[in-house]
Amino acid sequence: MTETPYFDLQQGDSRELIKSIPDASIDMILTDPPYNLGKYSTGNIKMDWRKDFNNDLAEWDQLDFDPAFWLPEFQRILKPTGNIFAFTSYNLLGKWHEAFDPVFDTFQFMVWHKTNPAPKLRKAGFLNSCELIVCCWNKGHTWNFGKQSEMHNFIETPICMGRERLKDPMHPTQKPLKVLRRLLELATVPGQRVFDPFMGVGSTGVAALGMGREFVGIELEQNYFEAAKKRIETSITQQELFAAEEREPIEAE
Ligand SMILES: C[S@@+](CC[C@H](N)C(=O)[O-])C[C@H]1O[C@@H](n2cnc3c(N)ncnc32)[C@H](O)[C@@H]1O
Repeated sequence: MTETPYFDLQQGDSRELIKSIPDASIDMILTDPPYNLGKYSTGNIKMDWRKDFNNDLAEWDQLDFDPAFWLPEFQRILKPTGNIFAFTSYNLLGKWHEAFDPVFDTFQFMVWHKTNPAPKLRKAGFLNSCELIVCCWNKGHTWNFGKQSEMHNFIETPICMGRERLKDPMHPTQKPLKVLRRLLELATVPGQRVFDPFMGVGSTGVAALGMGREFVGIELEQNYFEAAKKRIETSITQQELFAAEEREPIEAE
C-alpha cells in the first residue's frame, strides 16, 4: 500500500493559526492571498444571454492584506532551503518587494498568462489576462532547473474551468492545478512540506499531495474549508485506487 503523504488542514484565521507551525518546518510556502482588489472591482458583469461573468469580487478581498505583516512568521517557519511563491497583483508587488527583498537573497517574479480571461466588454482597456507570482529564497534553496528554454518566468494556461472548477461552492479565484504543479515541480522534491495559509478550496493541497509532497493548509471560511477538505480527501482516495490498480492488474474473467 502506498503511504498517503502527511497533511494537516485547519479552519480559522491564519494570522493566529500560523503561530502553531514549528520553526523551520516548511519547505515551500505556496499561497494565493487576498489581492485587495475589491475596491477596484466593478463586480460581476451582468449578461442577459448567459450567467454573469466572474469579475473576482469577493468579500474577503476587501480585507487589507499587508505582505510586511507576514514576513516574521514566514521567515520563522521556512527552512533555510525553503522557497516562497505567492500570487499577487500589480497593486501589491511593490509592498512585497519592500518587505521581502531586503531579507531574502533572491526576489523574483513570474507571470501567469491566462489564455481565456474575462472579456472587456466596453473595450476601454487591457484584458486582465496576467497575474503575478512573487518568489523568494535564500542560497541553497531547493531548485530543479530544467533546460534554459524551460526556465522562463512565464506560465501560460487557461483559467480554472470545466470539471476541475468547483460548482458548489464556486470560489471566485480557484487556481488551476497545472500552474500549481509547475511551481511545485520547480521548487520542491517529493517528501517536502508545502504550506498554504490561504488555501481557498484546497488547490495547492490537491497539487502537492498528488505529487508526493506533504501539505499544511488553512482557510478562514467554513464553506471553502469543507470543500477543500472533501476535495483533498477525494483526490487522495482516487490516487490510492489508481496506485492499487497499477499494482494489481485486473484479471480477465
Ligand atoms: C485568493 S483565495 C485562494 C484561492 C485558492 N488558491 C484556490 O485555488 O482555491 C484566498 C483565500 O484566503 C482566505 N482568507 C482570507 N483571509 C484569511 C485569513 N486571515 N486566514 C485564512 N484564510 C483567509 C479567503 O477566504 C480565500 O478563500
